[in-house]
Amino acid sequence: MIEKFLEQIENKTLKIGVIGLGYVGLPLAMAFLNKGYTVYGIDISDVKVEMLNDGISYVQDVSSDDVKKHIDDGKFKVSTSYKVISKLDAVSITVPTPLSKSKNPDLSYVKHAVDNTLANINQKPFLIVLESTTYPGTTREFIVEELEKRGIRAGEEVFVAFSPERVDPGNRNYSIENTPKILGGYSENCLKVASGLYSKIIEKIVPVETLEEAEMAKLLENTFRAVNIALVNELTLMCDRMGINIWNVIKAASTKPYGFMPFYPGPGIGGHCIPLDPEYLLWKGKTVGFYNRFIELASDINANMPRFVVDKAVRVLNRYGKPLKNSKILILGVTYKKDVSDLRESPAFNIINLLNQFDAIVNYSDPFHSKLYFEGEMYTSVELKPENISLFDLIILVTDHSAFNKQEIADNAKAILDTRNAFDGIKKENIFKL
Ligand SMILES: NC(=O)c1ccc[n+]([C@@H]2O[C@H](COP(=O)([O-])OP(=O)(O)OC[C@H]3O[C@@H](n4cnc5c(N)ncnc54)[C@H](O)[C@@H]3O)[C@@H](O)[C@H]2O)c1
Repeated sequence: MIEKFLEQIENKTLKIGVIGLGYVGLPLAMAFLNKGYTVYGIDISDVKVEMLNDGISYVQDVSSDDVKKHIDDGKFKVSTSYKVISKLDAVSITVPTPLSKSKNPDLSYVKHAVDNTLANINQKPFLIVLESTTYPGTTREFIVEELEKRGIRAGEEVFVAFSPERVDPGNRNYSIENTPKILGGYSENCLKVASGLYSKIIEKIVPVETLEEAEMAKLLENTFRAVNIALVNELTLMCDRMGINIWNVIKAASTKPYGFMPFYPGPGIGGHCIPLDPEYLLWKGKTVGFYNRFIELASDINANMPRFVVDKAVRVLNRYGKPLKNSKILILGVTYKKDVSDLRESPAFNIINLLNQFDAIVNYSDPFHSKLYFEGEMYTSVELKPENISLFDLIILVTDHSAFNKQEIADNAKAILDTRNAFDGIKKENIFKL
C-alpha cells in the first residue's frame, strides 16, 4: 500500500487537501501547486473562499497573480465543504490554535478539522499531517485515538504525522521551500510517506523519532524566543533606571563572535505565535504536575511592556511640561511586526488602550491599515507629512515599518518615544529611547 502511495506522490497524481487557508495554509497550498500537484483548499470562511476563487490573495507573502493562475488552471479548488475529502489522498491541517480567555489551549478548531476529515475519508491509505502549533500529545490524542475509536488502523489505513510550520511572515530570505521542516510520524511508514510528500516542496526534511518530539521542538523554538525577549526587556527596565542605553549595550555584546545571540527589547510581543505558544507548553506541563517558571516569568515581563511604554511616555511629556491627559499622541505602526500587515496580538492596542484610559488623544499612522476599528471607535491613519507630524505632542514608534521617513519625522516632531531603536543614527534632543 505504501509503495502505491509513494508512486502517486512521485507522479503527482496524489490529491492533496489543505485545511485552513491562512498565513500558514495558503503558502503551503501554493508550494504544492507550484510543484504541479492539484490542491483542494478548505476554509470555513466564506469571505476567504470567495476571494481565492476570485483570484485575490489576502496573505502578504502570496501574490494574487499566483492564486489566479492556479484557480484559472483548475488546479486550485477552494471551498468551505469537507465533502471534497472523499476524493482526496492526503490533508495538511493548518487551522488556528488560539488560547481561551483563561489562557488555556483552544483546540476546538483542530477538533472540528479532524472530525470532519475523519467523517469524509473514502480513499485508503490516507495521510493526515497536522501543522498547527500545539502541545505535545495533541496529534496522538486528537487524531490517532480518534481513528482508533472509529475502528480505523492508524499507521496502516491512515498515516499520521505532525510537522510544525516555521513560516516567518515578511521574511524575504526564508520561505517554506528553504526552511528545514521537522517531521514526526506515528510509525516508520507514517514518517516515510509524509517525508516523501513534503520533500517534494521542501529542500530539507528533519525527521524526528516521535510525534511528540516534533510538537515539542516547535514549542522549544518559540519559548526560547519569548524567554530571551523577556530577559532583554527586563534588562531594559533596569537600564532605564540606571540611565544606561540598552541598545548600545546589545550592540557591544553582539561583537562577541561566539556564545551570544542578540535579542532586542520592544513595546511587547505580538503575532499568533510568540505570545501564545509558550502558554500551550505551560498548560501541558501543569497536567503532569510540572510548572514552567521561565514561561510564566517571561509572559509576565513581556505582557507588561506596554505599561512601561506608557509610563515612559508620561515621563517624556513631563519634560515638556505636559500631562498625558489631553496630549495629542501619534502611534507609528500598529501591526505586530515590521513590514507585515498582521494585527494579531499587537502590543500597539494595549498601548492605545492605556493611553485612552488616561484621556490622551490618540491617533495612529500605519501604511498597511488606512482604517482601524478598535474598542468601538473608528480610527483613520494619519498621513505622515510635516504639517501633520508637528501637530502631535508625542509620537510613539511602536512598529518600525520601512515606509516611515525617520529623518522627516525627527525633523518635524515635537517629541518621539522610539521603542525599536528605529531612529538609531539620528541624533536629536527630541528623540527618547525605550
Ligand atoms: N502565522 C504564523 O506566522 C505561524 C507560523 C508558524 C505556525 N503557525 C501556526 O499555524 C496555525 C495556523 O496559523 P495561521 O497564522 O495560518 O492562522 P490564520 O488564522 O491565518 O489561518 C487559519 C485559517 O483556518 C481557517 N479555519 C478555522 N477553523 C477551520 C476549520 N475548522 N476548518 C477549515 N478552516 C478553518 C480560518 O478561517 C483561517 O483562514 C496555528 O496553529 C499557528 O500557531 C502560525
